Parts: sequence; structure tokens; C-alpha cells
Amino acid sequence: MDLISIDSLADHQIVEILDPADRYLDDWRSTNRDSDDRLKGKIVFNLFYENSTRTLMSFSTAAHRLGASVVTLPVEQSSVKKGETLEDTARTLNAMRPDALVIRHRENGAAERIAGIMDCPVINAGDGTGEHPTQALLDAATIRSHFGRIEGLKVAICGDITHSRVAHSNMKLLPRLGATVRLGGPEKLIPYGATSVDEAIEGADVVMMLRVQRERLEEDLGDAPGEYLRRYGLTSERLARAAPHAVVMHPGPINRGVEIDGAIADGPQRSLITLQVEYGVAVRMACLDLVTREFDA
Ligand code: CP
Repeated sequence: MDLISIDSLADHQIVEILDPADRYLDDWRSTNRDSDDRLKGKIVFNLFYENSTRTLMSFSTAAHRLGASVVTLPVEQSSVKKGETLEDTARTLNAMRPDALVIRHRENGAAERIAGIMDCPVINAGDGTGEHPTQALLDAATIRSHFGRIEGLKVAICGDITHSRVAHSNMKLLPRLGATVRLGGPEKLIPYGATSVDEAIEGADVVMMLRVQRERLEEDLGDAPGEYLRRYGLTSERLARAAPHAVVMHPGPINRGVEIDGAIADGPQRSLITLQVEYGVAVRMACLDLVTREFDA
């Protein structure tokens, strides 16, 4: 199977990712780590046409932790720079017979296009403004770990919703797991019925902030330094509107002092940002295991 969108997953497969992810995380936090070589002998290809720190490193770490070998194509030094198309690159990589391929690309639909060519499972690590399903899965795992449930929670997703593949995957996944999602941000950056950030955050259990993807904006927002934070960002005053027990999340990378006050991002009581990164590895271990098992079956 390929993991292109949250829609690629049946309900039971979501559970088959979230449950083992908890076990992987517990195991890797303990000093008595069990060795788990279930992907021994397999080769995972990483093909990242856009920059990444968290997703690239966590897929690589996840594959290594399960005993697989990882080969990462340095796209900047590849024959893409000589004009090779995505499809021709896929045909070339397919001839090398990897056991799974992870792709990030600036174009919506690129992961699906490459999945139509590859004989191995393909995982979408972010396609343009489309989806980033493994980020939503790690976000769900993080929320479930903190609250013990997702059902009934109110999640405010705030910022640049238009360009956020993270938001688009979370808007599919979290309601399937019983949460209510509210969107808040600048009118220009929310095409589907914007509310103000203040309204979205009111009484929320989870406040998930997103950076403005200025690299995808056709025109600059024209905001002066500090203005975005004041009008739309997460400040302590704004966070006070959320439920008293509310937690703060962010997929990263963070632009401190723009969409979030740095002190809130670092706050050990309420910020789950580091836990999200930990779950990034655990969830991607479970995803790699699931897609390769389904493929071998
Ligand atoms: N959250 C996320 O996708 O981060 P990276 O761009 O660093 O991979």
C-alpha cells in the first residue's frame, strides 16, 4: 500500500499506526531497548525535493531503528538539475528495487504520480500544499498520549491554513478520531470560512500554530515586524482564552516571535513540540512497518 493521504488509511490502519507508535516510543525511552529488526534487509529511499529537518531525519532514524538501510538522494546534486523529470527519476529509482520510497515535493499530487510508477510502497512526506499524512498521524499520537483520548477534544489550528499540508491532513484525521477542529488566522490565509485566532482558540484543548509559508505566497502579507504576532500569533494573552489545561503544538519549523512567542514554544508545562518530534520517529516506524507488511502480504 501507499500512504499518500489520510484517505489512504482505513480506520483499523490508523489504530495499527498509533498503537505501536506508543510502544516504540516507550521502548526507545527506556534503557533496556528491545532490538527490533523487522525491516532487516530492506532498503528505504528518501527523495526530498524540498527542505526538511524533522521529516527527513525521523524517517531515516525510523528505518534504521527497524533494521533497514536508508539511501537519501541529494536532490540538489542529482540529475534533476540536468532536467530529468520526476517520472524519469522514478523509473530510474524503481529499477534499483527499493523496498519503500519516501518523497517530499513542492507540487501537489507528486507523491501520487510517483506511486503510479514505483513497484514499492510510497509514503508522502509532504506534497506542495496538499497533504502531510505522517505529520497528522504524529500529531494525533501526541494528543492521544497527553490526554489519553482524542474523542471530544477541541483543536484550534491557527495560521496559514491555505498553504499548510499539515492542516489539510489534520483536518481529515482529527475529526475521524472524534475531535472538533476550528481554523483561525488571517482572512487571506484561510479559504474555508476564516474565524479570528481569538475565536478559534476560545476554550480549545489544543492550540496548534502554523508558520506563514512565505515561500508559497504570491504577494507579501505586508506586515511590519511584530505585527503578525500581535494580530494573529500565539501570545500569553491569547493563550489565556484557551481551556486552562490547553496544550500548545507546532509542526515546526517555528518562526519565533512571528506565529508564536518563543517563551510559549519553550514552556515545559504546556508545549508538546518536543513530544511531537519524538512521536515523529515512533509514528514513522509504525508507518514503514505497515506499508511494507501490507505490500509483502
Ligand atoms: N514538520 C515538518 O514537516 O518539518 P520539516 O519541514 O523540518 O520536515
